[in-house]
Amino acid sequence: MRYSVDTMTMNDVPRVVEIERLAYTTPWPPSAYRREIQENRMARYIVVRDVWLKPPATPALQEEMKRPFPLSLLLTRPSSHTSPETMNIIAFAGLWHMINEAHITTIATHPDYRGLGVGELMLSSLIGIAYTAQARFVTLEVRVSNTVAQNLYRKYGFAQTGVRRRYYSDNHEDAYVMSTQDITHEDYRARYAELRERLIQRLEAESAATTSEASDGA
Ligand SMILES: CC(C)(COP(=O)(O)OP(=O)(O)OC[C@H]1O[C@@H](n2cnc3c(N)ncnc32)[C@H](O)[C@@H]1OP(=O)(O)O)[C@@H](O)C(=O)NCCC(=O)NCCS
Repeated sequence: MRYSVDTMTMNDVPRVVEIERLAYTTPWPPSAYRREIQENRMARYIVVRDVWLKPPATPALQEEMKRPFPLSLLLTRPSSHTSPETMNIIAFAGLWHMINEAHITTIATHPDYRGLGVGELMLSSLIGIAYTAQARFVTLEVRVSNTVAQNLYRKYGFAQTGVRRRYYSDNHEDAYVMSTQDITHEDYRARYAELRERLIQRLEAESAATTSEASDGA
C-alpha cells in the first residue's frame, strides 16, 4: 500500500511542524512535540508516510536542500532542520491515554493529500491504539465550524457530548466535545472492523490503480 503508519520520532518533528503550520491557525511550537515524545508517558503520536515519495537520491541533492533558498522560494521550501528522509511524511496525529479514555490531541493531513483517506487511516489507527491501551472511550474537541473533521469523526461513531465555550484562543470559537460510545462493546468493535476493512480495501485498490496507470504511461 502507498501509505505507512509509524510512531512519531524526534527526527520527524521539524516535518510535522511544517505540516501543522499548513493545517492549524495556532500551531504548537516544536518544543511541545519534543516534550510530548520524550516526557509525556500518556502520549502516543503517529506519522503517515507516502512511501512512493523518495528522498532526494544523491548526497549532493541532499546538501542542496540544506542551502539557503532565494526569498521567493522560502515559503515552499522545507525547513533547514527537516531531514530529507522525513519529507515523505504527509500527515500526523496523536492522543493521550488516560485510564479508560483516549483523548485525540491533534490530527492533520498535508493539504495536497486531503480527501484520499489519509485522515481516516489516522483516525482508525488511533482507535486501534486506544484498543491496545485498553481504553473504553475515544474523545476530542473540534471547532464548531470544522464540519470536514466532524464528518470524519461521525463516520467512526463519535457524537457530540458537550460544548466548550470560546475554547480556541485565536478567534474564541466554541469547541464541540465529541466521544465514541464504549469501543469495547461488540457493536462498536464490529462497526470499527468493517470500516477498517473497507478503508484498507479502498487504499489498496487506489494504490494498485495508480501503479497500473503509471506502468501504462511508461
Ligand atoms: C480533518 C482532516 C484531518 C481530514 O483529513 P483527510 O485526509 O482529508 O480525510 P479523509 O480523506 O480520510 O476523509 C475522511 C472523511 O472526512 C470527511 N471529509 C473529508 N473531506 C471532506 C470534505 N471536503 N467535505 C466534507 N467531508 C469531508 C468525510 O466524512 C470523509 O469520509 P468519506 O471518504 O467516506 O467521505 C483534514 O481536513 C485536515 O488536516 N484538516 C486541518 C486540520 C484539522 O482541522 N484537524 C482536525 C482538528 S479537530
